[in-house]
Amino acid sequence: MNKIPREHLVKLIEAGIQAPSADNGQPWKFKLLEDGFELWLDQDNMGLFFDVKQVATQISCGALIENVVTLANALGLATHIRYLNDSSDKFAVLTFKYLGGQEKVDIDDANQTIFGRCTDRSLFQFKKKIPDTLMAELASLVQSDEYCLHTYKSPKERKTIIQTVTATDTIRFIHERIHNDFYKVLRFGKTAEQTRDGLASATLGIESFMIPILQLLRPWKLAKLLNYIGLHHVMAFRGTWLPMKSAPEIVSIIHKGKADYVGSGRVMQRFWLQANKAGLSVQPLGALPLFLARLHQLQGEGFTPEQLKNFVALEEEFADITRGFNKGDDQLVMLFRLGYGKKQVIRSYRRDIESFLKSL
Ligand SMILES: Cc1cc2nc3c(=O)[nH]c(=O)nc-3n(C[C@H](O)[C@H](O)[C@H](O)COP(=O)(O)O)c2cc1C
Repeated sequence: MNKIPREHLVKLIEAGIQAPSADNGQPWKFKLLEDGFELWLDQDNMGLFFDVKQVATQISCGALIENVVTLANALGLATHIRYLNDSSDKFAVLTFKYLGGQEKVDIDDANQTIFGRCTDRSLFQFKKKIPDTLMAELASLVQSDEYCLHTYKSPKERKTIIQTVTATDTIRFIHERIHNDFYKVLRFGKTAEQTRDGLASATLGIESFMIPILQLLRPWKLAKLLNYIGLHHVMAFRGTWLPMKSAPEIVSIIHKGKADYVGSGRVMQRFWLQANKAGLSVQPLGALPLFLARLHQLQGEGFTPEQLKNFVALEEEFADITRGFNKGDDQLVMLFRLGYGKKQVIRSYRRDIESFLKSL
């Protein structure tokens, strides 16, 4: 067997866990092998309302695999991936082989790209436009027979996509399960430093005076009461409408045909890595893609008939402004807002590498 030094395997896993995951759940474990590692799902850190049929987890695993393959290439290693499509938590087996005589890519460059990627939830500099050449380069990373990158350029398209996503997020704030899930993953003060997962309040990109307000709104009964006087609209305005308005570009990644969320996660991550590397700030907007996945994969379980009617209308609006999106067959993988941030981004934490290594 082709033996790979443990330190290389650990470096590959360290690169992998820098991947984005829904609510920074980091839902994975690894078991080291002589020539690679097994990737396992960690049920304790997944399965929230948004993670319908593990769609969010699969996208995150795709992003993790893209990071690993990117670093493996730089180390002169070929990656072989075997997916386990069974019902166990063993997700995939990744093995590596040294490629003799292969010209190596710069390892520092690969590491900087992987460790430099992050989510920026702050308001962007609307007036600082993204060069068309850069947008074309990023689109070419996604574009294929299976994937396309749609940019919402015209004022009408922009207005509609901002309204559609804001309407989706408004539903997010009137939903008890989503509310409770959100507070499960929110980390105030120094808690995130200790747990090293979840959404640290400092990474939310909101004004510091809003953080104690957010803390006060934890009891669902209080939030529900305040929703009667429009709290959900205020939250969606500040949390979604304003950030989207501040972004010079809004894009979506569409996958055409039969769903492949792991492959889609890899394409998403390829795009995200290069966008950050080019100096752009990036925020994914996961609510619409994951609600639509729920609509199609679970017939909308967990929503009221009125909310479902709303989603059908929102999907209709989305399809109208997204050329080539066939709502019966295709999936919205992710929406992103892109631009130039105003300040240094506060990065999210990762759990310690040892905590991911599975002892079997
Ligand atoms: C499937 C998926 C959905 C996500 N949805 C959102 C979202 O709706 N809003 C947001 O701000 N971040 C979203 N994120 C980003 C994660 O919250 C983020 O990756 C995680 O907190 C780790 O932070 P990092 O990306 O800065 O490393 C999503 C990530 C994934 C993989």
